[in-house]
Order: sequence, then structure tokens, then C-alpha cells
Amino acid sequence: MEAVAKHVQEPFDPVPLEKILKKFARKKGAIIPLLQEAQKAYGYLPKAALIRMAEATNTDISQIYGVATFYSQFRLKPVGRNIIKVCHGTACHVSGAERITEACEEALGVHDGETTPDREFTLESVACLGCCSLAPVMMIGETTYGRLTDRETKKIIKKMKK
Ligand code: FES
Repeated sequence: MEAVAKHVQEPFDPVPLEKILKKFARKKGAIIPLLQEAQKAYGYLPKAALIRMAEATNTDISQIYGVATFYSQFRLKPVGRNIIKVCHGTACHVSGAERITEACEEALGVHDGETTPDREFTLESVACLGCCSLAPVMMIGETTYGRLTDRETKKIIKKMKK
């Protein structure tokens, strides 16, 4: 796939992937677990890894790319050390999730779905985080922050940036 091939120049260490490929060598049709393991190893799915997987498993690159883009669990871009998940489920939506995302965007200088240039933070909107009574909610790593205001949100991020 041309769109995939264009970005092969990104730095890519093939060693972890080769180990994973060895493990899956005899498992036919194991594209999803293969992608999951690769993502675990790299934090996302580098394009060079997708190309190598296609070659090693004798699968069309467009098929691998199709699976990687279909499932939201897979990331095609590098992520930051801290992933900020702002809930946009119904309860959070009506409690001002949009304001929380905007506060994060302002504090980080990136848009929703992007990663800061220093790769410290990735901002993303997610579906219900399962603690609706605390809406609006965001999660950073394993920590949940509830009943947020935009001011508090900025404060939390500022503190983390130090
Ligand atoms: S809707 Fe946000 S936690 Fe459920």
C-alpha cells in the first residue's frame, strides 16, 4: 500500500518484531494477536513493522493495514509517555467534556488525538470510562480525575509538566 510505504524512514528497531514474528511463525491467521504484541513492544504500530509483518506472514499489506485501522485498539502513530483520556460518554458530554478537552488542548498546545512534540503527552477522547457519577472525567495513566472544571484540568496538567 503506497500510503504505508511512504513513511518507512521513521526510526525502527526490528529486533523486537523479529522475536514476535518467530513466536507467530506457525500460527496461521493470527494477525490481530500479532498486531497486539507488536503494539505492546513499540507502543504503537510503526509502518515499517506493518510492512515486515506482511512480508513475514505472506499477507497482503493492505489486509494488515485494514485490520490495524479498523480496530480502535491499534495506534498507527507514536504516543506520549502519558496518555490523557478525556471521557466523552453521555454523562461526561452533558457535564462539559468538551470544555475539559479544550482545557487540555490549551494546556498542552496540541489538538485532540495528537501527541506533544516532546512525546510526553497524548490527548485523546474516549467513550465512557465507567465512573459516570464523577462526570466530567479524565484519566491519566491509572489515575482517574472526576468532577473536573477546566481550571482544575489545566492545574493537573501544569503540575504534571513540572
Ligand atoms: S460517561 Fe464519562 S465516565 Fe461514563
